[in-house]
Amino acid sequence: MSGAHEQRIREAFTRQAGTFEDERLNVAFTSGLAWLLSYAGPRRDDVVLDVAAGTGIVSRALAPDVARVTAVDSTAAMIAEGRQRAAAEAHANLEFVSGDAKHLPFADGAFTLVVTRFSLHHFADPSPALAEMVRVLRPGGRLVVQDLAASTDPDIAVRQDHVERMRDSSHVSMPPRGVVSRWLRDHGLAVDAVGEREINRPVEQWLQQSVTAPDAAAVVRADLEGDLAGGETTGMRPHRVDADLWFRQRWEVTVAHRLSTEAAAGRAR
Ligand SMILES: C[S@@+](CC[C@H](N)C(=O)[O-])C[C@H]1O[C@@H](n2cnc3c(N)ncnc32)[C@H](O)[C@@H]1O
Repeated sequence: MSGAHEQRIREAFTRQAGTFEDERLNVAFTSGLAWLLSYAGPRRDDVVLDVAAGTGIVSRALAPDVARVTAVDSTAAMIAEGRQRAAAEAHANLEFVSGDAKHLPFADGAFTLVVTRFSLHHFADPSPALAEMVRVLRPGGRLVVQDLAASTDPDIAVRQDHVERMRDSSHVSMPPRGVVSRWLRDHGLAVDAVGEREINRPVEQWLQQSVTAPDAAAVVRADLEGDLAGGETTGMRPHRVDADLWFRQRWEVTVAHRLSTEAAAGRAR
């Protein structure tokens, strides 16, 4: 994986590997797991791929309920952190693999369930990675995508992405609400369910988790404070909880499945 953006991702997540699972900072990532799993519907015989798995929070949550999980990610430091945690939790059916979502190192149809959480907003173009996820999915297998969801108002979405990018320069853009379904249909999948939830996040912990540089963090705070005071909207819906600054994020999960060979042939006719 080469290129300036890929380098930016590796640098960002090498920096974040140590704070990513800090319990004081990542409540949002762990509290949303049950919700995601209720959509993924893991089965005992599932062979699972978690794409851009990071430290494997989702992989480790799935492992007890399925046959096997492979966690693939492009940042060595995230994988190292994940392997340590998986060993401490004694997951015998979980392996971490280094790889690029755009060129997955797996055979066609190798998995019955592919999941990817909080990855698409880091991709300059999600399409090649989605094509790969579909390729490695067995006909009938499910693809579950969870990500941040932007406003459907393009002017607001631009401002949301600006704040997210100041916080983490490897952020590209969040898919607007409903767009992931369209992308999955464009890749030949049948969409089964879409869910969304809104969560409140404390700004300071959110900035600490991403190890945002002080000057960039100051811009994020100033933008959110300005919005709260009635200035230009950031789309992040800042508010106070006691004296602290918080904001709201919208998460969307989309569940789709790959058509059987016969159904896909029927569709093509
Ligand atoms: C916000 S983290 C999400 C980690 C995990 N999915 C979770 O929800 O806890 C994004 C992860 O995407 C990985 N990533 C970004 N682009 C990638 C790519 N093209 N191929 C593989 N991993 C990638 C980063 O290394 C990082 O670990």
